Amino acid sequence: MTRQKPFHGAVAMHRQAQPQVPGARPPVVGSQERRTRRRSLEGTPRGGCADGRNALLPEVRLNYMTPIARNVESLSIQEWGERRAVSMVGLAPDFLGVQEKVLKIAAFDEPVLIVGESGVGKESLAQALYLLGPRRGQAFVAVNCPQYQEGNLTVSELFGHKKGSFTGAIADRKGCFEVADGGVIFLDEIADLHISAQVMLLRALAFGEFQPLGASQTRTVNVRVVAATNRAIGKMVGAEHFRNDLFFRLRYFHIRIPALRERGDDWRLLVDYFLARLRSQYGVDKRFSGDSMKVLRDYDWPGNIRELSSIVTMGYALCDGELIEPGDFVSQLEKLDDRKEGNDEDLYRRVVVAGEDFWKVIYSSFMDREINRSQVRAMIRRGLARTGGSYRRLLDEFRIPSTGYQKFMDFLRHHRLKP
Ligand SMILES: Nc1ncnc2c1ncn2[C@@H]1O[C@H](COP(=O)(O)OP(=O)(O)OP(=O)(O)O)[C@@H](O)[C@H]1O
Ligand SMILES: [Mg+2]
Repeated sequence: MTRQKPFHGAVAMHRQAQPQVPGARPPVVGSQERRTRRRSLEGTPRGGCADGRNALLPEVRLNYMTPIARNVESLSIQEWGERRAVSMVGLAPDFLGVQEKVLKIAAFDEPVLIVGESGVGKESLAQALYLLGPRRGQAFVAVNCPQYQEGNLTVSELFGHKKGSFTGAIADRKGCFEVADGGVIFLDEIADLHISAQVMLLRALAFGEFQPLGASQTRTVNVRVVAATNRAIGKMVGAEHFRNDLFFRLRYFHIRIPALRERGDDWRLLVDYFLARLRSQYGVDKRFSGDSMKVLRDYDWPGNIRELSSIVTMGYALCDGELIEPGDFVSQLEKLDDRKEGNDEDLYRRVVVAGEDFWKVIYSSFMDREINRSQVRAMIRRGLARTGGSYRRLLDEFRIPSTGYQKFMDFLRHHRLKP
């Protein structure tokens, strides 16, 4: 994704002045769509209508999105047009909980920290916060924090500079905070924000004011800050890469977006949704075979929704007939999922024979994605074979106290680990 020549989305969209502020960028919703739209699948007749979204099955929108998500989508279309629609497909209770939280905190001015793995929809959620709140219609300015590795550049990017304040500062320049005045600034990958900009950001959050580089006077702005990270920012605070005080100020409101593998059957809805989008764009109806669906079901989705979208597109593009078979897309999965199958026997032995703690060896490793779903399933299957299918007796086998039964079953259910 290009992060240069910014602001065409954020500022032009709101018909404000367009200062050249490299590093800021427009909302990326629909970037996948834009990318695919430019390409034409070889041998595929272009069908549907000029804008694929118009032909999106209404039932996909109606049945696969919550009322909040549908509202966000129509607001985004009003605000930014069809091509930049913010679509949040999914009905999993945890995802609904996230949306309800967003709806509630959208009206406030305090900062929000969104955390979640890569590709879970952090940017989409930041846009939803903006669209559902009173700042809609003002600027939405997105900044990619790691883009600038140098202190002055980062500070200048965010807060602006006066001509001559450092080598290369050949003219006065407004920073993103000033451009976002009245609206929302989205600080993406905040964990990588240069330490010298962290100090100024803290001040901006605390007092709503900042000083452009080389300026003698402070400026005051009214901006809501929404930050996102896919890194364990809490750990970075401990390691002193990130200021403790800034972390606590940023996480005034804290939202964790669940990973796709924690969202139950949402992956099925997303598969349908992306297929419907491709169908309306390229005019050919394709679907995944039963075998393919099994592969997708058992997959961990380390790259979450972005990865799922690219897998569906890959399968759609490579499959010759109507049915997408595993051969059309598995190479892509294997490439992205570089974790090895590992030795299931070893996991089983560590818990059952060596008596290591199940929650440490299995639960934590699974949650940290050091082991995958099929490894845990294989282990459970092995245990069940010994207990004649009884989950209660499996607890003994795994040396889990019987009081842990509910937690154990919830873990299996929630992560679809029952073999
Ligand atoms: N619930 C959803 N339904 C449909 N599309 C989604 C959903 N969530 C995210 N997407 C799409 O998936 C892609 C990734 O989303 P987004 O960029 O918001 O994720 P992210 O968490 O910011 O990713 P990263 O950590 O890589 O920056 C985007 O194209 C977005 O439109
Ligand atoms: Mg992002």
